[in-house]
Amino acid sequence: MSETVSELIVELWRGARAGRYETYHVPRRQSQTVLDVVTYVQRHLDPTLSYRFACRVGMCGSCAMTVNGRPRWTCRTHVADVAAGGRLTIGPLENLPVIKDLATDMEPFFAKWQRAHGVFAPSKTRADAIEQIAPASAGRAAADAAIECINCGICYAACDTVRWNSDYLGPAALNRAWSLANDQKDAGNTARLAAVAADGGCHACHSHQSCQEHCPQGLNPTAAIAGLKRRSLAAYLKGEI
Ligand code: SF4
Ligand code: SF4
Ligand code: FES
Repeated sequence: MSETVSELIVELWRGARAGRYETYHVPRRQSQTVLDVVTYVQRHLDPTLSYRFACRVGMCGSCAMTVNGRPRWTCRTHVADVAAGGRLTIGPLENLPVIKDLATDMEPFFAKWQRAHGVFAPSKTRADAIEQIAPASAGRAAADAAIECINCGICYAACDTVRWNSDYLGPAALNRAWSLANDQKDAGNTARLAAVAADGGCHACHSHQSCQEHCPQGLNPTAAIAGLKRRSLAAYLKGEI
């Protein structure tokens, strides 16, 4: 976008899932992010605008919104990269209920983490010695590859399978399950593999990689889900699940 544009024309979603876009005029600034634009509207034009953010540096995962039709982390998305012709259309994430305006209800997203057993199940007690895991081991490498998720929900909003099947666990929950499935210190894999192999689990994924394409952390949930498909099938054939 040309840096000579002095004003952005910004359409923001107002209301719940049934609502409308309203237009605002926001001054253009150097190094301006999409979150800066939303914050300007809330602080200077309409204090009733609802949205969510915390860290502003790409760590907390709370600022994701739909920006010109694509889910993005708004604190790390520069206006110069996305506002062709000085225009922005900003809405709530898809595939989630809308609380109000740009704030989605993340409860279904995190409920699916629980359903996928995306929670560490300790294999040791405090009394046991701390187990050393070799950094170069295959399990450690596989766990590491999936571990930097910031729970932003962008992959979930980008996934067509979630859109058509509200029961589907989705890429983030399954990615987390795969990270734990490779954690040698975790003892919850039988229940976890049974959970992710059930209806709405990993076998519903069509592997079209929209999650990978949109993940701001560069993670690859499609590969994680493929790993769960292989691991759960092997467990099934061995009669473990
Ligand atoms: S690869 Fe699977 S989880 Fe990822 S977007 Fe496609 S269907 Fe969803
Ligand atoms: S896998 Fe990526 S896109 Fe999905 S919630 Fe985690 S960080 Fe966000
Ligand atoms: S505000 Fe924390 S990731 Fe954007």
